[in-house]
Parts: sequence; structure tokens; C-alpha cells
Amino acid sequence: MGQILDVRNMVPKDRHPRIFDTYKELNPGESFVLINDHEPKPLLYQFQNEHDGEFEWWPLEQGPQAWRVRIEKRTEIVRDRSLTDYFQTDHKRLDGIFAKFEDSAESGSWGEAAIEFREFRLGLKRHIKAEEEILFPLFEEKTGMHDNGPTFVMKMEHKEIHEWLDKILSGTEAENSAQVSEGKTALMNILADHNMKEEHILYPESDSFATDAERAQVIKKAQLL
Ligand SMILES: [Fe+2]
Ligand SMILES: [Fe+2]
Repeated sequence: MGQILDVRNMVPKDRHPRIFDTYKELNPGESFVLINDHEPKPLLYQFQNEHDGEFEWWPLEQGPQAWRVRIEKRTEIVRDRSLTDYFQTDHKRLDGIFAKFEDSAESGSWGEAAIEFREFRLGLKRHIKAEEEILFPLFEEKTGMHDNGPTFVMKMEHKEIHEWLDKILSGTEAENSAQVSEGKTALMNILADHNMKEEHILYPESDSFATDAERAQVIKKAQLL
């Protein structure tokens, strides 16, 4: 799916121009996977400065040997992007990776399944971190609801999600169909309801409380995790 740009063997000064050329050649909605040998933070800063609101940045692997990130040219350029749009897009993206993982696991392609599940797990862990460290504190500050509001419930559910992520990973690595299938069912049950509550309540409320500048900051910080 899409192209891969591996810059690990390129001389450093050629890397950024090559990456931006590849990005510019994308049609809206297309993406490529960048493979690098270090964390590409300076690159992300450059994207945020030069292509604000135009791209998606979704890490698939974060070291220690390789860093892989999917860089997408968005179909629409939205400068004042809503938090709902950003986080909901990530839910959908993660659902897509999970569906591929399910297919691979069901057909016994355990090597593929393990790669896909690690991408899913990394993505969901980053997503949860962005919620807990960036979005929820803003929501709590604006509403004054801490231990008695929706973020409290979401954080409890995140704990369960983390446990199932670990169980499914170990099941996948052990090529244990029964363990994977038990984990899949449990995780999907929690996530369906969890994501729905976030998409219908928490994200839209956060959008209504946050200023344009705060929304932009949340998204930029979340990309940097
Ligand atoms: Fe969440
Ligand atoms: Fe979420």
C-alpha cells in the first residue's frame, strides 16, 4: 500500500529535499512510508512550519533501529482543524490497521500479523498518551471536572486497553490463535464503546471549550509524541 522511501543509505544533506519532493508528488489522499535511522523530529517541525494543516503524520515504528512514519497528503487543507477530526481520523486509521492484522492472523500469516499488530499497538499507545497528557488536561482545566468527569472513566478504560494490547501481542508472537481471538474480541468490545463516547461527547466538548490556538497546539504536540 503506497510507496516506501528509505533514506537510511542517503547522505544526510539529500534526505530532506528528497522527502519533500516525494511529498509534493503525492496526490491528495495519498501517502508514503518514510524509513529513517533516527527519530525524524526536525523533519516533523519542518512539515508543521511549511505544510500546516495539509499533512498527516502517523509513526508506525519508533526505534531502536528503525523509525517508520506514514506521511499523508490530506484531501482537504484545513488550517483550523477540530480536535474531533484529528482524533476521530486516528481511530479510523487504527481500525484499518487492526482489520489487516485480523486477516493476517486468521490466515495464519503470523509474520505479517506481528508487524501489523506492533503498528497498531504503537499507534494506539501514542493516541492514548496524546489524550491523557495533552487533551484531557485541557478538558479538565476548562470544565473543572477531574475525578468526577468523563476523563476519569476514559483513563480507567485505557488501563484495560493497555492490558489487552500486551496480551494480544504475546499471543501473536506465540502464534496462539485462541489467545489472539479472545484478546481481539475483548479489545474490540471495549474500543467500540470507548471511541464512541470520545467521538460523541469528549472530543466535541473539547472543541467547544478550546480556542483556535489551543486546538492547533494539541494537534502539534500529539504529532510530536
Ligand atoms: Fe481514549
Ligand atoms: Fe481516542
